[in-house]
Amino acid sequence: MNIEQLRIDTPAVAQLIHFNNAGAALMPAPVIEVMTRHIQLEASLGGYEAAGKQSAELENVYCAIGQLINAQPDEIAVIENATRAWDMAFYSLPLQPGDVVLTSPTEYAGNYIPYLQLKQQRGIEIRVIPNDEHGQVSLSALKDMLDDDRVALISLPVIATNGGPVQPIEQIGALARAAGVLFLLDACQGVGQMPIDVQKIGCHMLAATSRKYLRGPRGMGFLYVERSLCQNLEPVFLDLHAASLQTAHRFKIRADARRFENWECNVAAKLGLGAAVEYALAQGVEPMWQRIQQLAGYLRQRLTGIPGFTPRDLGIQKSGIVTFTHRDSSAAQLQQWLAGQEKRINVSTSTFRSTLLDMQHRDLLEVSRASLPRTTLKQKSTQWLPR
Ligand SMILES: Cc1ncc(COP(=O)(O)O)c(C=O)c1O
Repeated sequence: MNIEQLRIDTPAVAQLIHFNNAGAALMPAPVIEVMTRHIQLEASLGGYEAAGKQSAELENVYCAIGQLINAQPDEIAVIENATRAWDMAFYSLPLQPGDVVLTSPTEYAGNYIPYLQLKQQRGIEIRVIPNDEHGQVSLSALKDMLDDDRVALISLPVIATNGGPVQPIEQIGALARAAGVLFLLDACQGVGQMPIDVQKIGCHMLAATSRKYLRGPRGMGFLYVERSLCQNLEPVFLDLHAASLQTAHRFKIRADARRFENWECNVAAKLGLGAAVEYALAQGVEPMWQRIQQLAGYLRQRLTGIPGFTPRDLGIQKSGIVTFTHRDSSAAQLQQWLAGQEKRINVSTSTFRSTLLDMQHRDLLEVSRASLPRTTLKQKSTQWLPR
């Protein structure tokens, strides 16, 4: 991986330290170029005409995403964010009263709320898989929970929004497959940060976003649905892109995963997502993941030695999202202090509102979140810490 080139492609790193990749990363130059060019094309030709000219590039977005996660292009839907992509899969599942959804304590509130809604509307049951002694999903507990044949779905994030463990998703996928239970993976914080291979994981559905570790534009995401499942899953919403009108009384839903899309979209952002995926592929996801883990490990180690700071990440394998609390300062105070003119360091705060179960369990209201990018230089990664 050419760190120097990465930094040249990300000019803002000369002025600031952006440790908010779990929020929204800095887009690299090739992504910005593709999007700017398309907006200029729209301005000079018209929106539809510009899209027509880019039809091959637009098709290529599906191929690039497929390559990134080891799926086929027809198993990909490009949707405006991870939440809506996830919703399209989840709400389309034919869950019946009494069906059980298994999730992890690290579940994102944006996914947990839909569980509660279907609990109210359809009478599904939510069960939370306990953590093991390392703070990640207990595989033995999951195995036992899968003995109940009312379990219809396992649904959890590979990496939570508030840091914590990288969940053992391949083992979870293997257990799901063995039990004949669907597995919906929220890979929002994983895609672009770590290798995600849907064949190895064995998940049936996966939702992700463009703007975080993948470094694509905001307002873009995607959904993967395994081909054999896709045609049995009727999208909760349909339009004239997802389906076609055959007669005045009949419509036909398209066969591929684009049945979960809708017609109008931000074409420049879609092309930007494709460029971000290609950028990540060109660098190699595995070396990126190694580097991110190395930098995050270094930061955690440095934090441990500084009085007042408590690192908060659990799990055997940890991600690039480093979370911590400070004895005397709130997360908002730290965020403001670090963002100050001299330091210009972007970190964020993650509160119990995003991951209520996990935060309650750990008796935390908030954590500071420094989500490290691959562009960081090691000597810079702790220059901001009080000595
Ligand atoms: C784990 C996780 N899942 C889902 C989402 C939602 O993603 P989006 O904002 O793209 O809908 C987030 C956003 O922070 C997240 O961290």
